[in-house]
Amino acid sequence: MKYYFDICGDRDKDDQAFLETVKSLMHDSNSLKSFYGILANLAVLIDSYLEDVSWCGFYLLDEDNLCLGPFQGNIACESIKVGNGVCGTAVKENRTMLIEDVNKFPTHIACDTSSRSEIVSPFYDNKGNIFGVIDWDSPSYYRFTQKDVILIERISQIISLSIKF
Ligand code: SME
Repeated sequence: MKYYFDICGDRDKDDQAFLETVKSLMHDSNSLKSFYGILANLAVLIDSYLEDVSWCGFYLLDEDNLCLGPFQGNIACESIKVGNGVCGTAVKENRTMLIEDVNKFPTHIACDTSSRSEIVSPFYDNKGNIFGVIDWDSPSYYRFTQKDVILIERISQIISLSIKF
């Protein structure tokens, strides 16, 4: 069900209000256990806000593996090697990946066969090292745009600021 800010038609204003809500969920986190709770709530909030998105969640970096974190959507792969798939490439290249058609991304990992486009953005610990990635999947081609790059990177910044361990 997509119910978050459905009544408001102005997307920019929606995104601003949404980001304020994201900030209100965040607080300083001193342990991985408390951080998991924040990410779990954030996954629910993001899922309620984004339209035409089938999976949204987080992978957390453990040496050269990304481990599945809190998410909303279907069962997903638990482990992704750095350099593999869209998520692993986002870590390897340390940048947001906007994939308009996953069939054209050679190492795309199809956890969900209905996935057609994807956006992934890294977030960081307080030393500036990559801590994990945010991952959104859509069943539609070309679902994500530069506006989503801005949105996901702002969320990444907000998450990064809460990591104090
Ligand atoms: N498609 C991702 C794998 C994770 S799922 O989308 C949840 C990738 O290629 O890295």
